[in-house]
Amino acid sequence: MEALTLTEDQYRDAISLWEATGLTLPWNDPTADLLRAINGESSTVLGCTMHGDLVATAMVGHDGHRGWVYYLAVAPQKQGHGLGRLMMEACEQWLIERGAVKVHLMIRTTNEAVIGFYDGLGYELSDVQVRAKWLNGDGEAS
Ligand SMILES: CC(C)(COP(=O)(O)OP(=O)(O)OC[C@H]1O[C@@H](n2cnc3c(N)ncnc32)[C@H](O)[C@@H]1OP(=O)(O)O)[C@@H](O)C(=O)NCCC(=O)NCCS
Repeated sequence: MEALTLTEDQYRDAISLWEATGLTLPWNDPTADLLRAINGESSTVLGCTMHGDLVATAMVGHDGHRGWVYYLAVAPQKQGHGLGRLMMEACEQWLIERGAVKVHLMIRTTNEAVIGFYDGLGYELSDVQVRAKWLNGDGEAS
């Protein structure tokens, strides 16, 4: 099994997967997020298929200093079989090939269930606060 850049015919399935795994939020437009990452020069969205069905995704990018991973998702019925690890390893490899030396990710405080998963993959808690500010004035998805 291999993680490859999503093809256009998989975009809708990727968004369905993000919805099914609770990754979409009212203030994020997943289609805009996906297209921006896919079309960006330093980002992509990887996917993994089984029998033609998209079963896992991860968005990965490099901001010029660090790598970041977003939208890691494994189809609920396929979880627990190594796909999450495979996707994270594919993201790490993508970043290594572009010269990144460190990768970051954010976990929502409401998503405690995944902390053990990232612990097992060697992702340590960083001694930083993540702060955010909307740049479109009113906090609405762009
Ligand atoms: C988090 C997620 C991607 C994990 O995918 P997965 O395919 O189930 O994980 P894997 O089967 O690859 O698990 C890899 C290892 O982590 C362990 N693991 C998986 N989920 C775990 C959890 N919640 N707590 C502790 N360990 C966990 C597995 O037992 C496995 O250990 P092993 O390699 O020693 O056997 C998946 O649960 C998911 O899509 N969750 C919903 C979306 C989400 O929350 N994404 C992350 C946003 S930050």
